Amino acid sequence: MTVCEAPGKVYLFGEHAVVYGEPAVPAAIERRAAVTAEPRADDHVRVEAEDLSLDGFTVEYSGGTDDRPDVDVPTPLVEAAMGYVDAAVRQARDAADAPDAGFDITVESDIPLGAGLGSSAAVVVAGIDAATRALGAPLDRRELADRAYRAEHDVQEGQASRADTFCSTMGGAVRVEGDDCEPVAAPNLPFVVGFDGGAGDTGKLVAGVGELREEYGFAADTIESVGDVVRTGEALLADAVPEGEPSPELLAELGELMDFNHGLLAALGVSARSLDSMVWAARDAGAHGAKLTGAGGGGCIVALDASDATETALSFTQGCEEAFRAELATEGVRVVEP
Ligand code: PMV
Repeated sequence: MTVCEAPGKVYLFGEHAVVYGEPAVPAAIERRAAVTAEPRADDHVRVEAEDLSLDGFTVEYSGGTDDRPDVDVPTPLVEAAMGYVDAAVRQARDAADAPDAGFDITVESDIPLGAGLGSSAAVVVAGIDAATRALGAPLDRRELADRAYRAEHDVQEGQASRADTFCSTMGGAVRVEGDDCEPVAAPNLPFVVGFDGGAGDTGKLVAGVGELREEYGFAADTIESVGDVVRTGEALLADAVPEGEPSPELLAELGELMDFNHGLLAALGVSARSLDSMVWAARDAGAHGAKLTGAGGGGCIVALDASDATETALSFTQGCEEAFRAELATEGVRVVEP
C-alpha cells in the first residue's frame, strides 16, 4: 500500500491570462489530497473516494469508467472525480510500462472540489506518484508534473495550463509561462481563503474570456494587463527575503496588485456576486488585498492578512460557507507511506 499526498494551490496572480501565454504565479497551500494505491492481481480499478467534498463513493471498473456509483451527489462531480483518477492510472501504467496493472485506489481530500484550489491537480499528482511507486517505478518530479499535466489536459479536453499540476508537485510558489515552469522563492505569505460552497464551470469561463478577447481589443489588452500585474508581482517577490516573514511594505504592495488583478478578472466577466462580496468583506476587514482564485464564477477568494480579522469577517459574510487560513505549503507532493 503506497500513500502520497499533494497540496492544493491559490493563484497569487495570473489565472485566465495564463491561457494566452502570460505568466502566472500560483502558490501551494496546506490543504492536501491523499491517494492510496494498492496493486491488484487483476486489471480492475476500484476507486473509493472518502471525501471529495462529496458524500463519498466507491466504484469498480475494468476497461472504462462507465459504471456509476449509486450516490446522491451531482453526476458531473462524480464523473470529474473518476475521470481524474482514471487519467492518473493511465499515466502510471504508461510510465511503469505496465498496461494491465490494476489498483485499489482511495482518495481522501480536504480541498474543496472545483473551487479554484487545484483539487483535481492534487488528486492527479498524488495518484500518479502513489501508483508508479506502488509499481516500483517512481518518477522524478519534473516527469511527474508533466504526466499530471497530460492527465488533466486529457480530462479537460485540452483546457489546462501547467500551473496547478506543477505547483502541486513542487510546492511553494511557482511561475508558469506556457510550457516554462519554475519554482520561485516566496516568503511565508499569510493567505486567508473564503469559499462560497460552489464551483464555477472552468470550460465555460475560459471560453467566455476567449470570446471577449476575440470580440474586443480592450479585452485582449485587459489580458495583457494581467500579465503586467504578474510581472510586477514577480519582481516584488524576487526582491523579498525568501522563506522569511514578509515585510509590511511587501504585503501592502502585493495586496494592491491582487486587488488590481481581481478588478481585471471581474472586467473579463469571471467574478460572481459571492466572490465580490467576499473580496469586499476581506478588504473592509483590513486585508492587504483580495482576489478570486482559479477559474471564478463561484468557489474561492484569497486574501492576504496576518491577523484574524479577515477570517472572522468572512465567516460572517453572506455567501461565504467556509473561511480558513491557508499556510504556504513549501513541500509539494510527498510520500506518506512508501
Ligand atoms: O479553477 P482552477 O484552479 O482549475 O484554475 C483554472 C485556471 C485557468 O487559468 C482559468 C485555466 C487554466 O487551466 O489555467
